[in-house]
Amino acid sequence: SNPSLLILPGDGIGPEVMAEVRKIIDWFGAKRGLAFDVEEDLVGGAAYDRHGTPLADETMARAQEVDAVLLGAVGGPKYDDLDFSVKPERGLLRLRKEMDLFANLRPAVCFDALADFSSLKREVVAGLDIIIVRELTSGIYFGEPRGIFEEGNERVGINTQRYTESEIDRVARAAFELARKRGNKVCSMEKANVMESGILWREVVQKVHDEDYPDVELSHMYADNGAMQLVRNPKQFDVIVTDNLFGDILSDAAAMLTGSLGMLPSASLGAPMENGRPKALYEPVHGSAPDIAGQGKANPIACILSFAMALRYSFDQGGEADRLEAAVNKVLADGVRTADLLAQEGVEPVSTAQMGDAILA
Ligand code: NAI
Ligand code: MG
Repeated sequence: SNPSLLILPGDGIGPEVMAEVRKIIDWFGAKRGLAFDVEEDLVGGAAYDRHGTPLADETMARAQEVDAVLLGAVGGPKYDDLDFSVKPERGLLRLRKEMDLFANLRPAVCFDALADFSSLKREVVAGLDIIIVRELTSGIYFGEPRGIFEEGNERVGINTQRYTESEIDRVARAAFELARKRGNKVCSMEKANVMESGILWREVVQKVHDEDYPDVELSHMYADNGAMQLVRNPKQFDVIVTDNLFGDILSDAAAMLTGSLGMLPSASLGAPMENGRPKALYEPVHGSAPDIAGQGKANPIACILSFAMALRYSFDQGGEADRLEAAVNKVLADGVRTADLLAQEGVEPVSTAQMGDAILA
């Protein structure tokens, strides 16, 4: 039977960019003999509008069964005043938590045609190809206690950074495995100088390395220095592994090395399923972009490259992923630009659909 794919377009520009991915999925079925069983469902505000919850139980159940989930984006001003428990983001957090997607892969690749578009100098970013592995299911976004509490005559806001050895162990393994398929180099980032969780993080990563991955080059760096080094000389890195909070921030900084949020894919991987494939959710890094939603301006490349990652990491189709990435590279080299990629005046931007069509062609 065909590999199965659950598509959750979500809100804002999510459905717009996902429509371009659908064209590409259909193309692979028609032209490359690579057919998928595709189902589509609601997530985020769209699911809240229909079901009163940002992720219906049936959708959650399907996400656990399919070979991979592809998500657009969630959220928007319409939902800003909703209770925290039903906010669109909760739909995404629930997917990540219940699928136990502990390793978030965020590549920062600088396509040559866009090197001048980066916030940094061409020589700093040209040829850049790094990947940040962010721990995604634990740490300060989930640790207890959390809340706003009365303390004496004022309130105190509390979040807790908490990591178990096994949580660090498994994400470290994911990073070392990945490094072996790339530049064979891992840099682990924490703040062991001021955080207990950082001390444990460094210890466990080093132990996993020494026991099972001595062939991979490992270094440790304080995350604040890491932020500086990412901007100063990003090409010194290959794979960066870090916790949930630092990974959130560092990967957004890395995003700007390559130009536009509209270019950045991501993958979130969990433990292997019975068929050997890891549980997996693929999504662009960007959000629902309410400022441009509904205008046909969104860049579909981040979502398209997320599907390329699905081809590579869920479906063992590295060659087809290369083909798709090469098409993106070609279109950029030809000067085709959505509005977010326009550095100079006088060039006409193409629409979301025109970009998708150019890549297909
Ligand atoms: P955003 O990523 O939606 O937008 C930031 C800026 O980048 C905007 O100016 C937007 O127009 C631009 N941009 C983003 N993606 C683009 C694309 N594909 N093509 C062209 N331009 C693009 O982040 P923002 O504005 O902070 O959040 C908007 C909404 O999205 C909020 O409700 C937020 O909670 C949600 N969000 C959802 C995420 C997700 O679904 N994973 C991630 C981040 C934010
Ligand atoms: Mg972020």
